[in-house]
Amino acid sequence: MSEKQIKSANRVSYWSPAFVEFIQKDWAPYSSALPAQLENSKWAAARREALSQLFPGDRIVVPAGGQKVRNNDCDYRYRPNTAFAHLTGLGTDREPDAVLLLEPTQAGGHEAVLYFHPRVARNEEEFYADSRYGEVWVGQRESLEEMSALTGIRTESIDLLDNALRDNVGSARVRVLREADPDVTALVDATREGIAEGVDEQLRIALSELRLVKDEYEVEQMRQACKATARGFEAVVTDFPNALANGRGERWVEGIFGLHARHQGNAVGYDTIAAAGDHANTLHWIRNDGEVRDGDMILLDAGVELDSLFTADVTRTLPINGRFSPAQRQVYEAVLEAQQAGIDACKPGNLQSDVHRAATAVIARYLEQWGLLPVSAEEALDKEGGQWRRWMVHGTSHHLGIDVHDCAHALREHYADGPLKPGMCITVEPGIYFKSTDLLVPEELRGIGVRIEDDIIITEGEPENISAAYLPRTPDDVEAWMAPLLDAGRANVKQW
Ligand code: GLY
Ligand code: MN
Ligand code: MN
Repeated sequence: MSEKQIKSANRVSYWSPAFVEFIQKDWAPYSSALPAQLENSKWAAARREALSQLFPGDRIVVPAGGQKVRNNDCDYRYRPNTAFAHLTGLGTDREPDAVLLLEPTQAGGHEAVLYFHPRVARNEEEFYADSRYGEVWVGQRESLEEMSALTGIRTESIDLLDNALRDNVGSARVRVLREADPDVTALVDATREGIAEGVDEQLRIALSELRLVKDEYEVEQMRQACKATARGFEAVVTDFPNALANGRGERWVEGIFGLHARHQGNAVGYDTIAAAGDHANTLHWIRNDGEVRDGDMILLDAGVELDSLFTADVTRTLPINGRFSPAQRQVYEAVLEAQQAGIDACKPGNLQSDVHRAATAVIARYLEQWGLLPVSAEEALDKEGGQWRRWMVHGTSHHLGIDVHDCAHALREHYADGPLKPGMCITVEPGIYFKSTDLLVPEELRGIGVRIEDDIIITEGEPENISAAYLPRTPDDVEAWMAPLLDAGRANVKQW
C-alpha cells in the first residue's frame, strides 16, 4: 500500500540460503495472552456510531496514511491521520498503512473493520528484510487477534482491502477521506463510478466537526496534556541559567522542553517557538538559534502531545532573569487584560468570534492610550479600519485537540462564527508585538513582544482554564513561580 522504499543498489543485501535457514530457527513463541483493550476504545466506538448516523447506507473509508520519506530510506517518525486516530483510539505511531472501513449493514448502521498489516511469521523474509514492517527493524507488531483485542474492532489483513472495496460496488455510496492516503484514495476512485469529490468533502467536514465537542475522555486528556506541558515549562525555567551559560539559549530551551515532551508524552504537538528578545515579534519563530539574555524576555509557545495524540498549546512570555522591567510589565499587563476579556467571553452561546472581539477591543484601547493608533480605537476596530492589527495580525482562538489547530475543516458557521458549546476546547492567545524596527513605537517598547496563551474548556458555567490550572499568568505570580526554580537552576550550571 505504501510508497515503496527505494534502496540504493549499494545497500541491497544478499540473503544467503545458509542465513535464511539459520535466522528462522529458535525463537520463543509469541505470548498467547491478548493485550487489554485501549482505554480510549469505548469512546472511539461512540464516535464511530455518531459518524455512522451521519451517513446511513454509505461505505466510509478513513485511512491512517503511510510513512513519509524524510530522505532516501529514512522516514519521518510516523503519525497517523487525526480522524483515523480519533475513530480507532490508536495513538503514538499506530498504524502505518491501516484503513478503517465502516461498512453499511443490512440491519442499518455500520460494521467497523480495521484493515492493517499484521505481523508475519518469523520464517518470512519480511521478518528480517523489511525495514518498515519487519520485526527485526521495528519491533514486535500486532497479530490480527491482538489488534482486535486492543481496539475492539474486527480486523482483517490490508491485503483484503482491495476486494472489500470492489465487493458490492454500486450498492453503497463510497466516501473516502482523500488526503489521508493517496494510494487508498486512488483505489477507491478506481472502484466507484466517477470521482465524487463532493461526497468526500462532506465526509472531511463531518470528521472535523465530530471533534468540535470533546467527550469526557478527550477533556481529561487535554487536562493531562496541559499538566505535562506545565512540567516542561518548569524544567525550562529551571534551566535558564544553563541556557545563558552555554549560548544558543533558544535551542537549549527548545531541547529541554522537547526532552520532557518525549519523556512524558509522545512528542511536542507542534514545533516549539522559543523566541527571546526581538524574536518574540516573529510569530512563527521556530529556527530558535538565538541567544537568551539577562534582561530580555523569552516567548515560549510549546505543548506536550500525549501518547493518545491530544496536545496542549500554551504560551508564556517570561523574563529571563525572573523580574519584568517596567516596560515589559506594561505590555504584559495589557495582553493579560485582553486575554482575560477573551476568556470571560468563553461562554456557551457566544460565538468564537466574540472571544476575538472581546480580546482585541482591549488591545486596541491600549494602543490608543499609548498614542500608537492613527485613528480612534473605535475606528480601528471597525472592519474597514483594522490599524490595530499592525501589532497583532493573528487570530485570538482556535480549536485544540488531537491537532493543534483542530477541526480545521469544520464549516465557518460551526467554527469562527459558530456558538460555543460545553465540551469545546479552544485557545485564547492575544499578543502585542513591537518589532525593534517599528519606528511608530516608543523606543523603550521596541523589541518587546508578548503573547499569553491558555487552553479553555467551555462548560455550562464558568470557562475552565486547564493550562492556568498548572501555570501562573499574572506578572507577580510568574515572578514568584520563577524565583525558586531559577535558584535551583543557578546551583546546577554546567558549561558544555
Ligand atoms: N502554537 C501555535 C498556535 O498557537 O496556534
Ligand atoms: Mn494556539
Ligand atoms: Mn501556541
